[in-house]
Amino acid sequence: MNKKIACIILAAGKSTRMKSGTPKVLHPVCGRPMLEYVLDLTEQLCIKRTVAVLGFKHAEVRKYLRAGIKPVIQKRLLGTADAVKTGLSALKGFQGTVVILYGDTPLLKKETVKKLLDYHIQGNADATLLTATPEKCAGYGRILRDKYSSIAGIVEEKDADDFQKEIREVNTGISCFNKKSLDAVLKNVRPNNRKKEYYLTDCISLLYKNKGLIDGIKLSDIDEAMGINSRVELAKANRLMQSRINEEFMKHGVSIVDPATSHIAFGTRIGQDTVIYPFTVIERNVKIGKCCSVGPFARLREGTELCDNVSAGSFLETVRSKLGPKTLAKHFGYLGDSRIGSNVNVGAGTVVANFDGKKKNLTAIGDRAFIGSDTVIVAPVKIGRGARTGAGSVVTRDVPAGETVAGVPAKAFKKRRGKR
Ligand code: UD1
Ligand code: CA
Repeated sequence: MNKKIACIILAAGKSTRMKSGTPKVLHPVCGRPMLEYVLDLTEQLCIKRTVAVLGFKHAEVRKYLRAGIKPVIQKRLLGTADAVKTGLSALKGFQGTVVILYGDTPLLKKETVKKLLDYHIQGNADATLLTATPEKCAGYGRILRDKYSSIAGIVEEKDADDFQKEIREVNTGISCFNKKSLDAVLKNVRPNNRKKEYYLTDCISLLYKNKGLIDGIKLSDIDEAMGINSRVELAKANRLMQSRINEEFMKHGVSIVDPATSHIAFGTRIGQDTVIYPFTVIERNVKIGKCCSVGPFARLREGTELCDNVSAGSFLETVRSKLGPKTLAKHFGYLGDSRIGSNVNVGAGTVVANFDGKKKNLTAIGDRAFIGSDTVIVAPVKIGRGARTGAGSVVTRDVPAGETVAGVPAKAFKKRRGKR
C-alpha cells in the first residue's frame, strides 16, 4: 500500500451509552476486543503509519496496540474533531491521505476500506465519505446534499430538524481526507451543537464552503459499518460476526448443525469433518482437530486442544487441557489443566479437581487409560498408560501404568500379573 496513506483510529471514547467501566473499544465481539478487528484492517491494508487516539483508561487500551501503531492521548474527550486533531499531532510532516477509522466499528471489511481509499485517491478529493442507507438511521449523522446532489455537510441526529431526520443516507464515520485540506478546516470547527463537542463531521460543511471537492461512496451492506454504542448493538454485532465466523468454518468443511446456537470465538481452529452440535460455546484460543465431535451443550474454554477424532460430548467443560487422538469424553464432566493421551476413555461425570483453593494443579493421563464414571481426580496427579479407575473413585495419588484403582481415596484394586 501507498506510503502516502496514514490512518487515525479513534478510540478515546468513554462508554457512556454502554454504561460500563470498561472502555467501549475493549468490549469483546466473539471473544475479542472490538478494537482488534479495526487494528486488523490497518495491518491487512499494510498502512505504514497508524495512530491510535486513546483517552478513557488509555493504559488499558494501549496493551492491545500492535508494533508500529503509535498511541496518542486525547486529554479531554472534546469530540471526534478534537480526537483527529490529537491524532494529527503524531503525523507532523506527513502529506497525503488520512483515513479515519472508528474503534467501535468492528464489522468493517478491508475490501470496503480499500475501495474507499482507491476512490478517494483516484478522484483527488479533499474528503471522501463512506455512507449508507440503513433500515434504521437512529444515532447516525445524516448526509446533507445540495441541489446538484453533491455532499454539502453532515448533521448529527441530535442537532437535526424533523426534515433532516427523514434523510435516509447516513454517515458511517469512515472517511478519507487530504491531509492539507483537513488541516485547513479542522481548526475552524466550533462546538456549536447540542453536545457542545467538536465534531469531525463539521469539517465537511467547512470544506464545502471552501469549494472543496467532497465525494462519497455508498455501502450496500450497512451492517458492515455499524457503530457500536450500546449493549444492544454489541449483541447484534456479536451475532453478525458469529455468522461470518461460522460460515467460514462451514466453507472449510466443518459441520455446524445449528449455527445460531454455536458460539465459536474468533481465531478458533477447527479441522475438516468435525461436527459442532447445538448449544456449544467455544472460547478463545481453542484448537480442534479433524473428525471431532463437540457438544451438544459443550463448553471448551481457553487453552483447550482436541486432537483428531476426539469426542467432547454433552455438558463437558474443558479449560487449558489437551485431549489426545481418539480420546472420548462423551458425557458431562470437567477437565481442567489436564494432559490426556490418546484412546483414553473419560467416563461420564469425571471431574478433575484442579484447584486446591490456592493454585491450579496439573493432571496427566496416559494413553489408553480408562477413567470410570464419576471419578474425581484430585490434582496434581498422574494416571499411567492403560491404568483404570473404578466408578466413583477419588484419585488422590499417582496411579502406575496398567494399574487399577478404586474407592475413596482410590487404592490399588488388583495388580496385573507380571508387570507393573
Ligand atoms: C459518529 C459520527 C456520526 C456517525 C457515527 C457512525 C461525529 C460527530 N459523529 O457519531 O456522524 O454517523 O459516528 O458510527 O463524528 N471518540 C474519541 N474522542 C472523542 C469522541 C469520540 O476518540 O472525544 C471516538 C470514540 O471512541 C468512537 C468514535 O470516536 O470510537 C466515534 O465516537 P462516538 O461518540 O461513538 O460517535 P457517534 O455519536 O457514534
Ligand atoms: Ca459510535
